[in-house]
Amino acid sequence: MEQFASENEKNDWKDNITILFSEEVLRKKVEELGAAVSKDYASRTPVLVAVLKGSFIFIADLCRKISIPVIFDFMAVSSYGDSMVSSGVVRITKDLDYSIENMDVLIIEDIIDSGRTLNYLVKNIEARNPKSVEICALLDKDVPGKFKNKIKYKGFDIPNKFVVGYGLDYAENYRNLPYIGYIENTV
Ligand code: IMP
Ligand code: MG
Repeated sequence: MEQFASENEKNDWKDNITILFSEEVLRKKVEELGAAVSKDYASRTPVLVAVLKGSFIFIADLCRKISIPVIFDFMAVSSYGDSMVSSGVVRITKDLDYSIENMDVLIIEDIIDSGRTLNYLVKNIEARNPKSVEICALLDKDVPGKFKNKIKYKGFDIPNKFVVGYGLDYAENYRNLPYIGYIENTV
């Protein structure tokens, strides 16, 4: 795992980030998504399955804009290592705590890149016989040859560039930025 090596690097850590979605823009979008989920699941209690770690800030904000009862569970998968290129290998590093059989599951994802992770997750979750499975993703990246997933709730489409902040990392850094931005000088 890379760390900011020197004091200089630490002080300058945000200087190479170009803001794509400001705090305000994210807040509004999350509010819209929360309202849509609340409306669609009005008579049900969905299980929000957040995919760690990247979704932790998104789900924390989103759930407070949802006005109906929800249940939380978390999964952690690893598909990236420290690199910026999808390996295509998905490994569950933390499984759900509860059975989701006969439950309405809403998968909460930070970002869909190749779509491999999500494709794997949906299959894995469907195999547990939930009543329904839907996807809520904050960001959907425009990449060639993408696995197509049916995304019911989507925040933003973004170009094929690497983004950080609002939970998203580059080698575990930048997750705590309150906005989403591009890192300059990267692939
Ligand atoms: P996929 O399997 O290629 O769709 O990759 C999905 C996962 O890769 C996401 O859940 C993120 O954890 C990570 N990822 C993909 N693109 C980015 C990015 O631009 N910034 C940070 N993480 C990313
Ligand atoms: Mg992720």
